[in-house]
Amino acid sequence: MSKPLKIRAPEGKLGVLLPGLGAVATTFIAGVLAIRSGIGKPIGSITQMQTIRLGPRTEKRTPLIKNFVPLADLKDLVFGGWDIFKDDCYESAKKAGVLDINLLEKLKPELEKIKPIRGAFDRSYVRNLNGNFIKSGNKLELAGQLIEDIRRFKKENKCKRLVMIWCGSTEAYMERQKIHNSIKNFEEALKKDSKLIAPSMLYAYAAIKEGIPYANGAPNLSADIPALVNLSKKTKTPITGKDFKTGQTLLKTIIAPGLKARMLGLSGWFSTNILGNRDGEVLDDPLSFKTKEKSKLSVLEYILQPNLYPELYGKMHHKVRINYYPPRGDNKEAWDNLDIFGWLGYPMQIKINFLCRDSILAAPIVLDLVLFLDLAKRAGLDGIQEWLNFYFKSPQVAEGLYPEHDLFIQLTKLKNTIRWMMGEELITHLGREYYDN
Ligand SMILES: NC(=O)c1ccc[n+]([C@@H]2O[C@H](COP(=O)([O-])OP(=O)(O)OC[C@H]3O[C@@H](n4cnc5c(N)ncnc54)[C@H](O)[C@@H]3O)[C@@H](O)[C@H]2O)c1
Repeated sequence: MSKPLKIRAPEGKLGVLLPGLGAVATTFIAGVLAIRSGIGKPIGSITQMQTIRLGPRTEKRTPLIKNFVPLADLKDLVFGGWDIFKDDCYESAKKAGVLDINLLEKLKPELEKIKPIRGAFDRSYVRNLNGNFIKSGNKLELAGQLIEDIRRFKKENKCKRLVMIWCGSTEAYMERQKIHNSIKNFEEALKKDSKLIAPSMLYAYAAIKEGIPYANGAPNLSADIPALVNLSKKTKTPITGKDFKTGQTLLKTIIAPGLKARMLGLSGWFSTNILGNRDGEVLDDPLSFKTKEKSKLSVLEYILQPNLYPELYGKMHHKVRINYYPPRGDNKEAWDNLDIFGWLGYPMQIKINFLCRDSILAAPIVLDLVLFLDLAKRAGLDGIQEWLNFYFKSPQVAEGLYPEHDLFIQLTKLKNTIRWMMGEELITHLGREYYDN
């Protein structure tokens, strides 16, 4: 057993700052408000509902995670954020059409008080959005304004600590460039108002500079560049990302490890879906879609390891399609066709038709990230938090390391990290002790 980490108690208010007050953000905020007032349950949230086994099975110690690690209480969360549309959270939630209007009416007094701050935006990164509630200035000035916003929010709401989760739109695809390699290059590029700094990078920079934990719920690079990773080490800031693992990709990372575990082959996996929310509209632009596509495609390669199993996965065709179809709103419908093969190469098929609700699946992830990142900060952890990869489609990892996509390995890692923080024995599932004596 190792010594527990020294973890500061979660005293006082925790400010949750969300760039992008759209469908996911408002579903998360309204959800927490509903749960706080006893009219909803935090289904899907690990921090609120899951238990953790401690010690040997014979000890029967399985507390709820929230009773085991010192997490902030939901009643201490205060919400704020930015958007490029002026709608308050009630209006925005109503337009997003995820939650029932009767529920929203009950929460209206609290929701309409949460008004966005003007966003830092650059249309060349999200061509299908035309909001005009935006800041003016060059990139350096915008970063400075975001830092001022953060400090003002903290003071006005009497917050002791803050956390930032990017819930903004998916930005156009970009590869890492030289200016992303060091904080010196990055800050020089800020001064030069470089086009290579995307708005999400400005928010990430502002948060990390202020020592505020940062997570990226979208697939764009944002904090996944050496400049910001190094800065997060310097300012003792935990960071994580990218792209919330919900819907179709969640199912992929549940099913693919099972096929591989049983050494069943896969010759093709075709995924298509229709969705009609603002996210779908943004992804209708090929530049934003490319960022999402990369994120969705990488999952199978890493789980199935065709380099190690060329006979089973070497010829796999993996296609992902997203179709913007307004009538469906946030209620996505996804179809998957898997061509698999078994003993002696005999082919079989699996069909999945998932009628999911995107933001309903994403909201508990936002809550868990808020609470776990705040915990990480109070426990003195900084830089990339690989134990939170469980929540992401494109997990951020150290340079030169490949990401672990298998949901069950990710969960084991998350729970062992919590045990390690608290000085409990790690669980390897070896279990010899039950049989040796
Ligand atoms: N299950 C899911 O819903 C899910 C899963 C994985 C990833 N994501 C990602 O999460 C993000 C949010 O999804 P959503 O469904 O809430 O989308 P949304 O379009 O409803 O909300 C995004 C909001 O961000 C705002 N925005 C865009 N750029 C901004 C900027 N620079 N500054 C401030 N605000 C900005 C938009 O105006 C919009 O209101 C998207 O990038 C999406 O791809 C969502």
